[in-house]
Amino acid sequence: MSESPQGVLRNLTAYGDVAFSGYMRRTFLASAGYDRDDLSRPIVGIADTRSDYNTCHRDVPQIVDAVRRGVLEAGGLPMVFPTCSLHEINFSPTTMLFRNLLAMETEELIRAQPMDAVVLVGGCDKTLPAQLMGAASANVPALCVVTGPMRAGSFRGERLGACTDCRRLWHQHRAGRLDETEIEQIEQHLCSSGGTCMVMGTATSMACITEAMGMMLSGGAVAPSGSGARLRHAAASGRRAVDLARQPERFRPKQIMTRAAFLNGLTVLMALGGSTNVIVHLPAIARRCGVALTLDDVQDAADRVPLLVDCKPAGAHYAEDLHHAGGAPALLKALEPMLDRATRSVAGDTLGDLLDHFDPPGSWQRIVHPLSDPLGPTGALTVLRGSLAPDGAIIKSAAATEALCRHAGPALVFESVEDVTRRIDDPGLAVTANHVLVMRHAGPVGAGMPEAGGIPIPKVLSRRGVNDMVRISDARMSGTAYGTVVLHCSPEAAVGGPLALVRDGDMIDLDVSRRRLDLRVDKAEMAQRRAALRPPEKPNRGWRRLFAEHVLQAHEGADLDFLAGES
Ligand code: FES
Repeated sequence: MSESPQGVLRNLTAYGDVAFSGYMRRTFLASAGYDRDDLSRPIVGIADTRSDYNTCHRDVPQIVDAVRRGVLEAGGLPMVFPTCSLHEINFSPTTMLFRNLLAMETEELIRAQPMDAVVLVGGCDKTLPAQLMGAASANVPALCVVTGPMRAGSFRGERLGACTDCRRLWHQHRAGRLDETEIEQIEQHLCSSGGTCMVMGTATSMACITEAMGMMLSGGAVAPSGSGARLRHAAASGRRAVDLARQPERFRPKQIMTRAAFLNGLTVLMALGGSTNVIVHLPAIARRCGVALTLDDVQDAADRVPLLVDCKPAGAHYAEDLHHAGGAPALLKALEPMLDRATRSVAGDTLGDLLDHFDPPGSWQRIVHPLSDPLGPTGALTVLRGSLAPDGAIIKSAAATEALCRHAGPALVFESVEDVTRRIDDPGLAVTANHVLVMRHAGPVGAGMPEAGGIPIPKVLSRRGVNDMVRISDARMSGTAYGTVVLHCSPEAAVGGPLALVRDGDMIDLDVSRRRLDLRVDKAEMAQRRAALRPPEKPNRGWRRLFAEHVLQAHEGADLDFLAGES
């Protein structure tokens, strides 16, 4: 047992009289019906991210109730506390601008309130990374419970899911192949239940990785939202949190999220054909743990690990199918020779011990492939470097058009996301399928790094059947999206990266096999352009000012520079 104060006496309010602080706390909690017996138990905080704005978290109240029941069953005292909730679609301009805010809030609420362990209930894209960042910094025993994926929808006999199919069908609508009535009907079927996007987007990728890294009990990553399996996992997590609370020195997040655990996470990411956003989130969480995780680690994992999981957008199926095929445990078993078995889990075992009890993927299913018969080759993601991205850029090569992976074309430059919105469908836009669409000032400092990197194909081309073009930006892209899209160009334009110097007509060379992204402009001309460059204005107040002044670049995780390290 730790000797520092536990339970209700943790993190006392500062009155200058410790006994008085304890007495005051017990007095006020008595008003809520807690007696001395209640207050002698280990306290498990439950971070509650319910919000009417967050449809992915629609089932959080049920999940929180199940966690609470588990805590009570194990003799703990559950204390639910709200935090902000980030929904991808209902936040403007982008949830990425607020991930670090939720991380700070989660960290400070864990630290400021009495709790011996915490269960983090999240799910939608930014919530889980933010909660892991906050938990790492607070370093109080923690485990994650996600809402789980939505169930697949259906339209005219075809299974549909957010948001790979959202994008595919909207593209068809833009190209005139689906009319207004059809797209309105589709709108009603794409998101069929509570839960997170049911393809291998950021939410599902991060959930599987969190389980692989040992911060979630086994089987929790892809049990569908609202299912009995989801609620049983939540209750088990509540029970387990009480065990963690009783032995805090053994299960601190930084003891679990080691470098080896992060490398296991990258291995899982590649086998999933998962979201490019994870390449921003994992380094951010790692920095909080004092672990260096670089784009070289990403490339190394991409070179080693083939695609094993047949889920959209890299495959054909949905997250609930992965659950029925055995979920993350089946995938981890398939990946066993590539994983470090010595990493630890909140379950109390090493990953190796857990793997010894997992069944290999059954031969009756085709969602999780064995290493001997992968779904796709290695190299699902490629880290690009070159004169246009000296600190790196990312392309999801598995979702790119092969013929465009080696491409030279003239740049057509958009100054911002707003500029794209204004001009992309202009019938007079001078663009050919050979052009390279460049969008800048959409990186962390420039715009909070929205998921705008999948620049729409200009209508003048999509109506002629052009489905893909080379697109380059300092933005991110939804993990559910696809195309020959180069993302996270670093350093970004707003801090003077080379992307800021590109002009219409400059030749750009993309060569994915050589991992190069280059601008064919000579050094003297680049120096002249740089001398004329004026930095864009930054926000003048509030969170957005703090963010713009302190956010790190994409390859460093886009955390705030002062949030790494110990408090
Ligand atoms: Fe929440 Fe996709 S919008 S996970």
